[in-house]
Amino acid sequence: MIQDIVKRLDPLPPKSKLIIFGGGYSGQRIASVGRHLGTQVLCSRREKNSKGADFIFNTETEVAKEVFEGATHVLSCVPPSLTGEDPVLNQLKTQLLNSKNIKWVGYLSTTGVYGDSKGEWVNEKTSPNPQQERSIRRFSCEKKWLETNLPVQILRLPGIYGPGRSTFESLLKGTIKMVDKPGQVFSRVHVDDIAGAVLFLIGLYSQGKNPSVVNVADNLPTNNLDVIAFAAKIAKTSLPSTIPFEVAKETMSKMALSFWQENRKVDNKLLCQKLGYPLIYPNFKSGLKNCFSKIKINK
Ligand SMILES: NC(=O)c1ccc[n+]([C@@H]2O[C@H](COP(=O)([O-])OP(=O)(O)OC[C@H]3O[C@@H](n4cnc5c(N)ncnc54)[C@H](OP(=O)(O)O)[C@@H]3O)[C@@H](O)[C@H]2O)c1
Repeated sequence: MIQDIVKRLDPLPPKSKLIIFGGGYSGQRIASVGRHLGTQVLCSRREKNSKGADFIFNTETEVAKEVFEGATHVLSCVPPSLTGEDPVLNQLKTQLLNSKNIKWVGYLSTTGVYGDSKGEWVNEKTSPNPQQERSIRRFSCEKKWLETNLPVQILRLPGIYGPGRSTFESLLKGTIKMVDKPGQVFSRVHVDDIAGAVLFLIGLYSQGKNPSVVNVADNLPTNNLDVIAFAAKIAKTSLPSTIPFEVAKETMSKMALSFWQENRKVDNKLLCQKLGYPLIYPNFKSGLKNCFSKIKINK
């Protein structure tokens, strides 16, 4: 429930205005939380008729001037272009630099920038070592944001899940694959904790607690088989048989394969211990229970 997130947060100062570029899955949830805290929030989408499009941001349309008027906080959830450019900075850097009231600029990045740590923990002090083309592009965009001299904070996210985007979708459709790669773990974060952490970090930033990079991940990197088995138990459904990774990889998409080629545990101590953000879903078990409860409600 949105109240579970909101009750952990302080409202932003009166007259705050948050602009979100890329009001997709995470962006819309962050917008809802911001609005529940009493903040004015505007979200972009690329198409006029998309749900939750308060304004249009794409390569063809100029962003209306009013969008920037009075903006105090900006968040980009827009991924890099295929050529490695940051779509927001490419088109709007000047407007952002001219918006004199901006107190915080967030950029949703990925923990893919750390590359492969062979199953070891990575934290914000770990030197990024992106291996995949998309992670190299991402790290380049992080640097471009940090070089702007805006009050930028990079939030590095592992796999995002939540209602409508969890193990249950493929499990209940019967399309899930039980890929067995011993020692492989994935870190993840529930979308409600992304929304909670964004608003929490905005609140701290003005108090001088403003690290330039923060990992936003849950406490428990886990093997994929454990996650699927737990979901199947909750849904009271049977599990397909396991497939060794060496066999499964032959039919995997290039994208899927790239995820299995990297193995790391994402450390969240900066966010959760040093800065004090209380996770709503500290691990996949509590998070999946939440996702399943939403499926039942929608029936
Ligand atoms: N999914 C994951 O597991 C994961 C993990 C780590 C990091 N991330 C990154 O975290 C961010 C948020 O993830 P998400 O899953 O919430 O994203 P999402 O649902 O895919 O939303 C991305 C948003 O960016 C907009 N967008 C994409 N390309 C654009 C472009 N060239 N110009 C303008 N707008 C553009 C999309 O517009 P429309 O609304 O019009 O489609 C959408 O609103 C993304 O940058 C994502 O790459 C994702």
